[in-house]
Amino acid sequence: MSVLNAQIFADADALGGFAALVTAQAAAEAIAARGVFHLVLAGGNTPRLCYEKLRDMHVDWSRVHIWFGDERCLPVGDAERNDRMADETLLSHVAIPESHIHRMQAELGPEIAAEKYAILLAGAPVMDMLHLGMGEDGHTASLFPGHTTLIDERLAVPEFNSPKPPAERVSMGLPILNAARQKLILAAGAGKSDALKRIRAGEKLPVAMIEDALWLLDRSAAGE
Ligand code: 6PG
Repeated sequence: MSVLNAQIFADADALGGFAALVTAQAAAEAIAARGVFHLVLAGGNTPRLCYEKLRDMHVDWSRVHIWFGDERCLPVGDAERNDRMADETLLSHVAIPESHIHRMQAELGPEIAAEKYAILLAGAPVMDMLHLGMGEDGHTASLFPGHTTLIDERLAVPEFNSPKPPAERVSMGLPILNAARQKLILAAGAGKSDALKRIRAGEKLPVAMIEDALWLLDRSAAGE
């Protein structure tokens, strides 16, 4: 059995609103303490509601650095890229210096992009907050069940055979994800309930390998 540190919301909108609030609060605390807030954004669709609400909250964006938990190996500006979703929902709406947005150069392919991002991460401080989603198979970022990326100690890892298209991706590795000060895992929709049941039964799916996370679930994902 695994007991999750979870909060359950009526729907994805309420979940997104709370995630945005917690993130704005974490930003204020980090900036007060260290003068900077390093935030790792999640990909996929679930975080959209959070990012659309976060852009209207009071955050000193000039003190924020943005990182990406993973990226799909698609051309720059492709509609399916995770950084495109971040631009549309958040980054193009706030006064954050472009030099503070640390994009994965996934257009270069998994191996080169992973090597380049690992160099960036090697010079980066501890991430203050990490946003992650969860796939229906229990993957998170681009770390998939049974893939060697789960035991790859590198800061950023290449994925060549993702079961979720596109096949080629780059992901932060587990060690750096687990090193973040705060981790939010956002999961909404009935499609996620089976993976959550398996995790609660003790199955170590990739997302369950994220330590000390706060799980933000809607009722459907929680199986209520
Ligand atoms: C991606 C994400 C991936 C995502 C989950 C959940 O590139 O797709 O990094 O890990 O977070 O698959 O996706 P949804 O939020 O769209 O369900």
